[in-house]
Formats: sequence, structure tokens, C-alpha cells
Amino acid sequence: MRSRRSCLAVPGSSVKMLGKAQGLPADQVFLDLEDAVAPLAKPAARKNIVAALNEGDWAGKARVVRVNDLTTEWTYRDVVEVVEGAGPNLDCVMLPKVQDAAQVQWLDLFLTQIEKAVGLEVGRIGIEAQIENAAGLVNVDTIAAASPRLETIVFGPADFMASINMKSLVVGALIPDYPGDPYHYILMRILMAARMHDLQAVDGPFLQIRDVDGFRAVAKRSAALGFDGKWVLHPGQIEAANEIYAPAQEDYDHAELILDAYEHYTSEAGGRRGAVMLGDEMIDEASRKMALVIAAKGRAAGL
Ligand code: GLV
Ligand code: MG
Repeated sequence: MRSRRSCLAVPGSSVKMLGKAQGLPADQVFLDLEDAVAPLAKPAARKNIVAALNEGDWAGKARVVRVNDLTTEWTYRDVVEVVEGAGPNLDCVMLPKVQDAAQVQWLDLFLTQIEKAVGLEVGRIGIEAQIENAAGLVNVDTIAAASPRLETIVFGPADFMASINMKSLVVGALIPDYPGDPYHYILMRILMAARMHDLQAVDGPFLQIRDVDGFRAVAKRSAALGFDGKWVLHPGQIEAANEIYAPAQEDYDHAELILDAYEHYTSEAGGRRGAVMLGDEMIDEASRKMALVIAAKGRAAGL
């Protein structure tokens, strides 16, 4: 699995930002053809993106392009131009505003045709599906099952809030009039569908880019549930995301200790003991699994 703690949005219309993004420590970049690019700028943005993928140095980053959604007239040309032009240097296509499984299946079939036509390994290019409206959330289980190319389900909170008429303009933040977390159900719904199909779950943007404390507060909530990462719109958000979606050093160290202790004590007992003590803590097979999750995330983050 690719690491996706920080997924940096880069408008395809900005050659300057396509250049700058290469030097930033984000786990993933997604070069955008959708909402960050005005309709008249889309044709030039496709060309900028193909050139940046082919000529840029994206070492260590997952390279993703977000195409336009399937209710527009742009999607097919976005996919053809980007995959024909830069397929070997592209990891995934992100499809926004996915409403049902058929939309993902369309992209899967379309990618297969292009891969065959240009001589790429069939299935090489992955898919990220963005859930951004009520239809997408209601259908998220079948969307998550729609293609073996799927790697990630991504929450798009701004479009989602608009789509359900949410009474707030601060994306992802708690709403003073609501005595709870208005995003809890949505995030959990996405997470369950993703995990059922071994996919990653990624949280969307926080638009107040100078409010890093606000970003951290929102990110910590989805990270606590188990989300793998979050979009970042500004270099100032990258470090926070990389830290928040990795385990704390203390938790990582404890997870490795649990794994070592469990291995040691159970083998010492000749495989006849399922639960053993680590100091004051009882650990068993379920603790081992929990520790494995934290240890894997920590190892991926280089802790
Ligand atoms: C992202 O695309 C969002 O709508 O939040
Ligand atoms: Mg959106």
C-alpha cells in the first residue's frame, strides 16, 4: 500500500505550483483538472500535467491526477490525454463526485482500453473514488467493490456539505449548534466500506489554510478513527498531516513491544498459551492484531 498521510492538491493550471510541489514532503500529489481549474483553462492544464509527470522528479510520491466528474463533458478527454501522454509516470486516476459503482466501472474499462492501446500493463493504473454527495455515500459499499483498481475512498467534505445543505461554511469543523461531530457518521460509513474491501480511507481538505491549529483539530478526529491521511492544500499543512496520520512514537514503541513480548511468551509456552502478561497489561491474539496495525503505520512512516 502506498503511504497517503498527506495528499497535496496541485492545480494543473499552474506550472509554477506543478514545479514547486515536487520538492515538498507530501506522500502523494494529486494534479487537479477539476474544481481548482476553470473551464477555459482545462485544455492547457491537461498539457501542463502530462509535461510535469513526464519531466518532473516525483520520487517518493504517489502520482495521482484528478479528472472531472462524469456529469461533465471533460472526463473522457482528461483520462485519454493524461494516460496516453503520461501513463508510465502515473499511479492513479482520482474520480470525483462518484455516485454509483457504474461510474467506477466505466473508468476501469476505459483505463483498460488505453493501457492496451499504449502497451502498459493492464491494471497498472489505480483508481481513487471521491465521495462527495448523498448518492455517493448511500452507494459507498458497492462503489468500494466496483473495481480491483480501487486503492482509496476519499471524502470530499466541501462538495458534500453543499450537497446535503449543511448549515456551515467551515469545511470539516465542528458546528456550534450541533452537540456532536456532524462528520462522524459520514467518516465511519466511508471507513467501513473502505476496510471491507482492503482500501485506504482519506479525509478531504481544510480550506482555512493559515489556521494550522484548525487543520490539526479536524485531522486528529479522522486519524483517531483510523483514516490513512488527509488532503493538504498548502505546504504548511503537510508536516501536520504526516505527523497526525502516523502513530505517536510512544504508541509505536509500545506496539513493537507487544509484538515482541507476545511472540516471546507464547513460544516460550510451546504455543499452548493464548494470553500472556506484559507488565500490568494482558495481551492476546487481538492485542497482537491491534499492535500490528500501529506497527505497520509506524514502520511505513519511518519511526
Ligand atoms: C473536495 O473535493 C471537496 O469537495 O471537499
Ligand atoms: Mg469536491
